Amino acid sequence: MSAAKNPAPTHEQDQLHADRVLIVDFGSQVTQLIARRVRESGVYSEIHPFNAVTAETIKAFAPKAVILSGGPASAHDIETPRAPDGLWEMGLPVLGICYGEMTMAQQLGGRVEASDTQEFGRTFIDVTEPSALFDGVWAPGETHQVWMSHGDHIDAIPDGFRSVARTDTAPFAAIADEERGFYGVQFHPEVVHTPDGAKLLQNFTHRIAGCGGDWTMAAFKDTEIAKVREQVGDGRVICGLSGGVDSAVVAALLHEAIGDQLTCVFVDTGLMRAGEGDEVVELFRDHYNIPLVHRDAGDLFLGKLDGVSDPEKKRKIIGATFIDVFEEEAKKVGDAKFLAQGTLYPDVIESVSFTGGPSVTIKSHHNVGGLPERMNLKLVEPLRELFKDEVRILGRELGLPDSMVGRHPFPGPGLAIRVPGAITAEKVSLLRQADTIYLDEIRNAGLYDAIWQAFAVLLPVQTVGVMGDARTYDYVCALRAVTSTDGMTAESYAFTHEFLTQVAGRIINEVRGINRVVYDVTSKPPGTIEWE
Ligand code: XMP
Repeated sequence: MSAAKNPAPTHEQDQLHADRVLIVDFGSQVTQLIARRVRESGVYSEIHPFNAVTAETIKAFAPKAVILSGGPASAHDIETPRAPDGLWEMGLPVLGICYGEMTMAQQLGGRVEASDTQEFGRTFIDVTEPSALFDGVWAPGETHQVWMSHGDHIDAIPDGFRSVARTDTAPFAAIADEERGFYGVQFHPEVVHTPDGAKLLQNFTHRIAGCGGDWTMAAFKDTEIAKVREQVGDGRVICGLSGGVDSAVVAALLHEAIGDQLTCVFVDTGLMRAGEGDEVVELFRDHYNIPLVHRDAGDLFLGKLDGVSDPEKKRKIIGATFIDVFEEEAKKVGDAKFLAQGTLYPDVIESVSFTGGPSVTIKSHHNVGGLPERMNLKLVEPLRELFKDEVRILGRELGLPDSMVGRHPFPGPGLAIRVPGAITAEKVSLLRQADTIYLDEIRNAGLYDAIWQAFAVLLPVQTVGVMGDARTYDYVCALRAVTSTDGMTAESYAFTHEFLTQVAGRIINEVRGINRVVYDVTSKPPGTIEWE
């Protein structure tokens, strides 16, 4: 996606955002999960990188509480990242998680030591004292599972703090200064491996910081509709539909906000899954009655990709062709002033970089970046504040069907990057048939929602087989299914052997041209989810 970088967030004092939590990011891999857990309990939260947070920015953001995330820094380091000193005098409750607990302890006069041993993974914690953080969840004398990932440990806690939970190796696994509302935990409450973590975070935000539960997608919908109306006035808006969840939710929201001022443009690349193009047209044109321009550009894309086998070249060709076609169609819409886009919060969050070095481009993502400037369009991005799971809830709130809202992510370049090497119409058709069977079987087995993404890949390899009495020399199909929370890391899904055999049997029997099926068990990293 195009990531228009953080314009200053506007924070009207609306009820929806009235109680908000600031998460100071020290670079942990799981900082986003803190924000998601907090939002799931009905409290709006934002992530700001530690090096952009000052006492002034905190005051301007006006949070009800602050959470300090974990991070890779260590007390070994000469210069350790810190929370701004002014934070401790603002009268705000503060929760430090992992590195956040370390810096809190150190900044308030305690002592942190670098450990020789790292504590990593599942651990059991003994609750030793009552604390507002544990109210109604954990009681003294109990033992609970938590997830640790840290190297340093606290040697001496600052004045005013008590230890309220310990592990065999960490006497200060949870500390509290109830008077000032400062809490620290050495474990990660935001990950599912700390089963009571969400409740502890809710105690912090609701009981300790006094936040209400006003952040709901129903309230978000109403607020956002009002904002869109204000932004676009009586202007005309174009929205590109891709067949995916994000653009569908943007279109449905805008339609509710501005009715016929919205025109959707759907560029059918011919590289979508079976039936998806028709579904988009049916839903938006026939069901919602939204003016919809449908451009069937399958032949154009196939022609441009003819004989091209390099993955990056394929991606670039598809991206450039998409923009050209989209622009052509958008111009026909006439006096459009705005382009609506499904930019999500993870695209907007500024990430913490410790190395400062340039990051390597693994894959060029497909987007319509550059188009707004070329066409002199202003952006409407109603999902900028949302995580993917929130977008799905909003989609349901808007009445979109489950088949659309719960859909697995699908890459912009579509099936072209699931046929490694040069593509042909025949190969895309074989892949589409195999993919349909695979997804059918996954749905029938009730596994669709447990999987982040599942798809078939058609390998550019032919192998020998035997069918009946005849020799076959046909293509190999690879099956991929992964679990993930954000697509950044992923694990291969553990189907039963029986299930895989059933899918393989159907594909080989029903798709003429494929005679062998293999299953991809690679995690990300080191693999990526897509093969190209
Ligand atoms: P990788 O293959 O990089 O994919 O592990 C991570 C996630 O991103 C999706 N993906 C894309 N999405 N345009 C998109 O909108 C793209 O060009 C693109 N390439 C990969 C992929 O399906 C997975 O969910």
